[in-house]
Amino acid sequence: MNPEPDDDEVTRLSHELELTTRKLADAHKMASLGRLSAGIVHEINSPIGSIFSNTEVIIRALEKLKQTLAANKDGPIPQKALDTVTTILSLAEVDRIACERISGVVRSLKTFARVNEGDLLRVSINELLLNTLKLAGTVYRQMITFESDLGDLPQVECYPGLLNQVFLNLIVNAAQSISGEGKVTVRTRLEGSLVHIEIEDTGSGIPAEVQPKIFAAGFTTKPLGEGTGLGLTITREFVEDTHGGKINFKTEAGKGTTFHVFVPIEQPRSDPKLGA
Ligand SMILES: Nc1ncnc2c1ncn2[C@@H]1O[C@H](COP(=O)(O)OP(=O)(O)OP(=O)(O)O)[C@@H](O)[C@H]1O
Ligand SMILES: [Mg+2]
Repeated sequence: MNPEPDDDEVTRLSHELELTTRKLADAHKMASLGRLSAGIVHEINSPIGSIFSNTEVIIRALEKLKQTLAANKDGPIPQKALDTVTTILSLAEVDRIACERISGVVRSLKTFARVNEGDLLRVSINELLLNTLKLAGTVYRQMITFESDLGDLPQVECYPGLLNQVFLNLIVNAAQSISGEGKVTVRTRLEGSLVHIEIEDTGSGIPAEVQPKIFAAGFTTKPLGEGTGLGLTITREFVEDTHGGKINFKTEAGKGTTFHVFVPIEQPRSDPKLGA
């Protein structure tokens, strides 16, 4: 006969259940977000593609028209027509740059649409980081400078959707720790069989009494509705449990924080389909 669990055991089990339920809810939310962003990326990509190619045609046509007008400058066509075409041409060029910018952001969103992807793939960690920086830059560019110093890395066998989530969490935390102006620097290096990723900020630093709690589920120092306190819990789980890596940090009050992430370049039970 099983002995009745005591009160402590019941409390422990109910905490575990609560944590598991929360993790499941979060995984579900991320999967839905992944599907949703895949749909949005597709919806934006097609019209932008068409605007982009039309703009190219318009620019070429305007250039021709401008040449024709310039050749007849002293003829019956007034200078005003040439000036108007020149203005339209420069506006169309600005539109083309705007389209390129939107396409760039949408392309970087595309990697996030893979949050739910379960396959182990060989990918460029540097590329994942650059995409994440591009996304973060669209939100925080005004006050924060984003810098990268990326070393030569081999392709890394990983779950790219999950590592995207890790990098986004760390870069957003870094940006949120800065009030006013500051800098977030991302570095990568190959260290033996590990890729070392550093995310450094010039933010507030983490007070000594807060440091032991930051990876705990639900712990946040951010105002209600701003932080769920799950970012670092998920981050550590994806780095250490899913990829067999390691995450730690160094911080100094008032100076900033650096998170160090170590990810193995190979996963232990390699999928033979991936090749050598
Ligand atoms: N780079 C950082 N600088 C200063 N404090 C940090 C940094 N990263 C994390 N923290 C602290 O750790 C806490 C927990 O971080 P975590 O990412 O888990 O949750 P959150 O950012 O508060 O909310 P969420 O990520 O769910 O939106 C933060 O509230 C903050 O106090
Ligand atoms: Mg966070």
